[in-house]
Amino acid sequence: MIKAVIFDLDGVLTDTSTYHFAAWKETVASVGIELKASFEPELRGISRFDSIKKITDVYLPKTSFKTSQLESLAAKKNEVYLEKIKTMTEADLYPGVLELFETLKHKGLLLGLASASLNAPMLIEKLGITHYFSHVSNPALHPSKPDPGLFIEGLEALHVSPEQALGVEDAPAGIAAIKAAKMKAIGIGDPKTLKADVVFKTLADIPYYLFD
Ligand code: BG6
Ligand code: MG
Repeated sequence: MIKAVIFDLDGVLTDTSTYHFAAWKETVASVGIELKASFEPELRGISRFDSIKKITDVYLPKTSFKTSQLESLAAKKNEVYLEKIKTMTEADLYPGVLELFETLKHKGLLLGLASASLNAPMLIEKLGITHYFSHVSNPALHPSKPDPGLFIEGLEALHVSPEQALGVEDAPAGIAAIKAAKMKAIGIGDPKTLKADVVFKTLADIPYYLFD
């Protein structure tokens, strides 16, 4: 029996994956990188610092950046990102999120958040959904996904076993993290690229019987 559902945030509950990528695109243009749209899924679930490392490793493999330079690009990207999400509200939740959360609560399930974003606590406040979560995992304590740390922290905090919980993710690295935590994974996005147990195009397409 399912007792808990642990959600990713960016790209699952709201369209912030787009904003993260747009912010990276703007930021790295300043060092001459033209980020391709096909690179976007590769950055999902990856921390700020690991993202800039990945971008520079792929696009400028012969340039060696100092850690301080990478940190300053990551900080710049965050400024651009924060500007983009400044005016977000509950109206920016994806369709079906509130209905799903209400249904899960009604069924007596616990909700957890396993976002790699240090901005997650602030963003869920803006979206008006903080009160739904019994636990919000701390990304500062774990490596980037596919490390399962954020999901394992959630399982432990909610006192449930991996078999009693489901994870919901839009990122290939996030699905891998859920699987590494030995949980079943619900993917949101393209079934051709997401290796989840079951994949739906949007969160609103998830049938509620999966949580019985
Ligand atoms: C993840 C996003 O949720 O959070 C990534 O999918 C992002 O794109 C990561 O890099 C870290 O976010 P932040 O807000 O701490 O820079
Ligand atoms: Mg995501």
